[in-house]
Order: sequence, then structure tokens, then C-alpha cells
Amino acid sequence: MKIIIEENYEKMSRVAANILLGKMYQNKRVNLAITAGSTPVKMYEYLVADTKNKPYFDNVHYYNFDEIPFKQKQGYGVTMTNLNTLFFQPAEIPESHIHPLDENNYQSQDKRVEQDGGLDLILLGIGTDGHYCGNLPGTTKFENLTSYVGEDATEHMKDILLSEVGGDENERPDFYVTMVPKSVMQAKEIVLFATGRKKAIIIKRAFFGPVTNEIPASLLQTHPNVTIVLDQEAASKL
Ligand code: GLP
Repeated sequence: MKIIIEENYEKMSRVAANILLGKMYQNKRVNLAITAGSTPVKMYEYLVADTKNKPYFDNVHYYNFDEIPFKQKQGYGVTMTNLNTLFFQPAEIPESHIHPLDENNYQSQDKRVEQDGGLDLILLGIGTDGHYCGNLPGTTKFENLTSYVGEDATEHMKDILLSEVGGDENERPDFYVTMVPKSVMQAKEIVLFATGRKKAIIIKRAFFGPVTNEIPASLLQTHPNVTIVLDQEAASKL
């Protein structure tokens, strides 16, 4: 496990963007799964500036690793909407290079990724409870592949989903789809990044404590090629 600690959010974002750019700059197809959320906002600003109108990045394909539907709206869910706004639209990524995940195609996701050559890199954020993608504490099974979490979603999980969707109780999603540990661990490389003091305790527990299902991200310690990129605040408990 490699840990990179940068002075602040901007520098941490620059490092994360550079890791992605290094992967993208190849003479072959590159498959990335990339995170939504607030952590990557700055990183996508850098990536948009660095990749827009640069045909030598046309080899890159993007996969969505989790999705939460909007209850009242058709079309893309929270994750794709966020990624579209932050990156795909401003960077003018062709639609044929974007591979959304949804309730209709989740069962074929792992097969599709495998047929496309596997994920070269998955870029993850982390929740303050140690979740990554939609793998919430105590809920995921290692043997499953990309999954639909519906009837077995707990009230707590649905509350987390509501906080991501925003709005009132009526918007509370009934289900979500997510890549699970087995699918994530099949990526050739994992990068997880975090910013701010609110992530400091979970970073210490996830990467400097035992591997436990109660802290889903702790499993990532066991991947042979994982890099954790932090700003000083997120690293302040190490
Ligand atoms: C949610 C999102 C993830 C994100 C995580 C952390 O679970 N589905 O994609 O990585 O929250 O979000 P943030 O970066 O906003 O702290």
C-alpha cells in the first residue's frame, strides 16, 4: 500500500489527476472507473483542462461503479448526473466511451468490464463510515458480483441514499446498484483519495487497523496495487 500525503486539497487533487493522466496516456484502450462526490471536484477541474480536445486521450473508457436512482425523475441517477456535470460534459467525452451502470444492466457489468479488458484503475472516495462505492458497513458479501441492493437495503442505508439524493422523504430511493468488493478488487490498480479533517479518523481505521466488514474500505489494504492520496487534514490522525 502506498500513501501519498499532500499539503492541501489543491495539491492532493493535482496528484490524483496526475495519476489518472499517467494511466490514460497510453497507446491502448484504458478502462477507468471513477468516483463522483465532493472530493473529486478540483481533480476534475484539472482533468477537464488537461484532456479537453486532446485526441490522444480518446483511448480512455469510463465505467460507473455505483448508481442511486432519483425517485421522481427518469434518466441518469445521482452518480452519472454528478460525473456528467463535473467531467464528462465539460471534457466533451464521447458518449460511446461512457459506460453507465443502472438497474437494467448491473448483472452484465462484470462480464462487460472483463470483455473490455478489465479495469486498469478504479478511483474511489471514502465515506466517513468507511464505505466505498455502495458498500456500506456490515452489508456486503465478498462472493457477490455487481449487485442490486433493494429489499434488503436497511433503513440506515436508505437514509444514506437520501442524503446523497437530497430533498425530502419522498425522494428516498428504494434501491441502488453497486460494484461490490470482489468486482473492485479485480481492478489492476486502486487509488483512493480523501480530503479534510472529517475523514481523518476513518482513514486511520481503514488503512492502519484490521480488515473488517464493519469498515468496508479496510479490505482495500489487501489489494496488491493500492495508493491512498490524502491532504494533510485527512492524514492528521496517522
Ligand atoms: C458517496 C458516493 C461515493 C463517494 C463517497 C464520498 O458514497 N457514492 O462516490 O466517494 O460518497 O463522498 P465525498 O467525496 O463527497 O465525501
